[in-house]
Amino acid sequence: MKVLVSDSISSKGVEILKKAGFEVDVKTGLKPEELKSIIGEYDALIIRSATKVTAEIIDAADKLKVIGRAGTGVDNVDKIAATKKGIVVMNTPGGNTITTAEHAIAMLFSLARRIPQATASMKSGKWEKKKFMGVELYNKTIGIIGLGRIGSEVAKRTQCMGMNVLAYDPFLSDERAEELGITKTDLDKIFAEADFITIHTPLTSETKYLINKNTIEKMKKGVYIINCARGGIVNEKDLYDAIQSGKVAGAALDVFEKEPPEEGYALITDERVICTPHLGASTLEAQENVAVAIAEQVVDYLINGTIRNA
Ligand code: NAD
Ligand code: MLT
Repeated sequence: MKVLVSDSISSKGVEILKKAGFEVDVKTGLKPEELKSIIGEYDALIIRSATKVTAEIIDAADKLKVIGRAGTGVDNVDKIAATKKGIVVMNTPGGNTITTAEHAIAMLFSLARRIPQATASMKSGKWEKKKFMGVELYNKTIGIIGLGRIGSEVAKRTQCMGMNVLAYDPFLSDERAEELGITKTDLDKIFAEADFITIHTPLTSETKYLINKNTIEKMKKGVYIINCARGGIVNEKDLYDAIQSGKVAGAALDVFEKEPPEEGYALITDERVICTPHLGASTLEAQENVAVAIAEQVVDYLINGTIRNA
C-alpha cells in the first residue's frame, strides 16, 4: 500500500510507516492541482494544516482509505466529502496539548511584559526603558473560552500564577469544573470581568467570529486577547478597530483568518499586536508525538481496520 505524506512531519512517523511495509512518499508544498493529479495512487494521506483536502481532491482519490492529521484541527479536510466516499479522517488531539498550552502562556507573559516589542526595540539599537511598562498577571482575571484539552492545561497553569480563572464551555461538566477547581461561568461574565481572554475552542459555526464588534463592546477597556486556537474565531477587522480605539490594549495571535496573511497586514504591523506564524504545536516533542501517533494509527487502520484518535 502507498502512503503520501504531504506536510512535513517528524521522520519518526515516516519510519513507522516504512517499517509496516508501506511505500511512503514525502512530497510537501504541493499545489492543489499537483496533489489532485497524484492522489489517485495512494491508500493513505498524512497531513498537518497546510494541505487543504477539498472535495475536489477527495473526488480524485480513488484508492484513498484514510486521511491522517498529525495534529488536532481537521478544519482543512472536507469531512463530509470524505465520509461520503468512505474515507476515514483521524487526528492526534492529545500529542500537542501541552506544547500549545505552553505557547498560550508564553503569549500571555509576552503581552503583559511586551517582551517581543522590547526585543525589537533593543535590536534596533534603542534603550527604551520607560516605554515598555508592563502589567502584573498576579490577581488579574483570565477568561478561558473552551475548556477542553488545551484550555484545561492553560487553566491549571494560570491558577498556579495566582490569576483568577473564569471559564466558559457549554460542554464542561460540573464534575470536571470541580476537578479543575474552576469557576464555570457564562460568556457575558467573562466579557465583563476578564483582563485577559484566551480562546481554546474549535472553529465551528457557533465559534466563527465569537470575538467581534458586539462582544468586544461588552469587554473591559484595556482587555488583552489571545488566540492560539483557530483563525476566524476572532473577527480580525473588529479586533483591529478595537485596538485603534484603545478598547483592546493588545492581542497575541498565533492563528489567522488567512494563513499566511498578506504582507503589510495592518493588524500584524500594529505594535500592540504580537504574533507567531501558527507555532502553537511547534516543539520537537509535540511534533514527534503527533507524527508517531498518526503513523501508528494509520498502520493500525490499514492493517487491522482499527480506528482511533490518540
Ligand atoms: P478540545 O476538543 O479538547 O477542546 C475544545 C473545547 O472547546 C471543548 O471542550 C469544547 O466543549 C469547547 N467548545 C466547543 N464549542 C464551544 C463554544 N461555542 N464555546 C466555548 N467552548 C466550546 O480541543 P483542544 O485540543 O483543546 O484544541 C483547542 C483548539 O486549539 C482547536 O481549535 C485546535 O484546532 C487548536 N489548536 C491549535 C494549535 C496551534 O498550533 N495553534 C495546536 C493545537 C490545537
Ligand atoms: C493543530 O490543530 O494541531 C495545529 O494547527 C497544529 C499544527 O499542526 O500546526
